[in-house]
This record gives sequence, C-alpha cells and structure tokens, in this order.
Amino acid sequence: MIQDIKKKAISDLQGITSVESLEQWRIEYLGRNSQLTSILRNIRSLPENERKTVGSETNTLKELLQFEYKKFKLNLSKTNTSTNSIDVTLPGRKGNVGGLHPITSIIREITSAFGDMGFSVVEGTETELEHYNFDLLNIPANHPARDQWDTIWLDRPNRKDNLLRTHTSPMQVRVMENTTPPIRVVVPGKCYRYEATDATHEWHFHQIEGLAVAENVTFSDLKGTLYEFARRIFGPSRKVRFRCDFFPFVEPGVDMSIDWNGDWIEILGAGMVHPKVLEGVGYDSSRYTGFAFGMGPERIAMLRYNIEDIRYFFSNDLRFLSQF
Ligand code: DAH
Repeated sequence: MIQDIKKKAISDLQGITSVESLEQWRIEYLGRNSQLTSILRNIRSLPENERKTVGSETNTLKELLQFEYKKFKLNLSKTNTSTNSIDVTLPGRKGNVGGLHPITSIIREITSAFGDMGFSVVEGTETELEHYNFDLLNIPANHPARDQWDTIWLDRPNRKDNLLRTHTSPMQVRVMENTTPPIRVVVPGKCYRYEATDATHEWHFHQIEGLAVAENVTFSDLKGTLYEFARRIFGPSRKVRFRCDFFPFVEPGVDMSIDWNGDWIEILGAGMVHPKVLEGVGYDSSRYTGFAFGMGPERIAMLRYNIEDIRYFFSNDLRFLSQF
C-alpha cells in the first residue's frame, strides 16, 4: 500500500505545472488528511509486529515526498514566469546602488578642474620618511615650525624616521627629484596628525597638493590658477582673499580664504617654492621658479554642502552619506 502511494504521488508530481496544483498535491500527500498522516495516526491499531516496519516505511516516504516537493517548488519558481508566480503589473523594486563618498567626489571635481589647467594627477604613499615630510621642505629637526604638524611616528625596528605623512607636501620633493621641469601636478591623498578631534579637526583627513615649476613662473601665475580653481568650485561670484602667511617651504607664503556669508574661511596655504627646496632636489634656483599650494578637501566639502562637523565624513552613517 505504501509503495502504491509512492508511485502515484511521484507520477502526479511530474504532471504539475503551476504553483496552485503543487499546493493541491502537497495537501493530498502531505497534508493533515493525507493517507500517510492517517496511517501514522492509526498505527496503534495495527498488530504489534507490523507497527515498526509500517511506521518507519511511512516516515521514510513522507521525508522523500517532502524533499521532492521542495525540489519541485524551487524548479517551478525558477522556470515558471507566468502570471502565477510573478505579478508583472507590480512596479519594480529599485536596487540598492552605492554612490561615491562626498570626499571622493570633491577630490575628483577639484583634480579635474586642475586637469583642465594642464595639471596631471600623481599619488604618493601615506607612510613617509622624516627627510621628505620635513627636512627637504626646509623644516629642519628641532625647528619650532615642526610643532605645526603634530606627527604620528611609526614604531619600526631600527628606524626612528618613519611617520604617517602630516601633509601631502613631501610629494613636491619626490616629484621634483624624478622630473625635469616644466612640472604641473596635483597630489590628492590622505594625511594624519596626532591631534584631538573636534568639529573642524580630524586626526586623519585629505589634502590636495599642487606644484608648478618651470622657467619664469611668477606669483601672478599662482593667483590666476587659484582664482580659476575657486571660480570652478564655488562659482564666479564668490569673493576670494589672499593674505600673507608663513610656511617654511615657500617664500613668500600666503593663505587663501573664501567668503562664507560675510566670514572669511581659510581653505588653503600656498606660495612660491622656497629656493632652498629647489636647491635641495638639485635644481638651479636662478633658472627655475615655481608655486605650490595645499588644500583640505574636507573643508571645501563642508563649505560647499553646509556640513557643520568634519567627523560626519568618516563616521560611516548611511543617513549622512546617502545624501550625496
Ligand atoms: N602643507 C601645508 C599644511 O599642511 C599646506 C601648504 C601650505 C602646502 C603652503 C603648500 C604650500 O604647498 O605652499 O599645512
């Protein structure tokens, strides 16, 4: 009798083409009123010597049918695209698509603005040597100017001069070492400082360094280039201000601020590359001149999108990130 049920169940199953008839099949062979269930329910009425075999054969068949049922259901849902299984009139569900991080977008926007002015993009490493991060930038050991860049030093066996770069400026030196002018590069990248965080300071952040070196590069080239950058990023009517500032690797040095609802907000440092820096890489400083600048894309994104706390950028909160 159990074999008969098996034969019929399997052959019925082969003829099924819809979800509804599969459900009928399940009720008939595996449901509460199926033959198999009633055999098991009435097992006590059988003579004692038959109970064990009937019980185990019935259970085995039940498991087999359950297995076949699941297998069939899966295949049916894969192959059956008729209106039984998919309601093609329902509106589609939108996939979850990721987007660029706001800092990545702003870096791309800034580097492409400089790209249009003939600058190429190079990248450096996040670990640096003291020599490049400081010495060759005219910041000798024990010079008080080093205090401006609170440094995270790396703990390396037998080396005391490894650090996480505090700015992208060391790439000025590395590019000059490997290139004969004319040079026009921008260097986006991550920097680190041993600093407490607050609304405008992070211990890790990005910078974009710029460097142009050739014969006859002047301070007006610097101003023209940075004006054009500000026009591209903040629009043609935004006011821009230059002020004198000090950085050991430039002379003269300036900072540039932009007008923010009547306040001046500083967005970058810049200047004419210091003759000592040029000579440090073996350039003839009576032949070549250059300008350099370094800016913080986080700052720029904050001004651009009205973000009041720099820490939002790297706290990985999708409610913040998905707005961009
Ligand atoms: N490296 C400087 C900083 O981190 C920024 C800077 C200032 C870069 C003047 C420059 C520059 O290239 O000319 O504060």
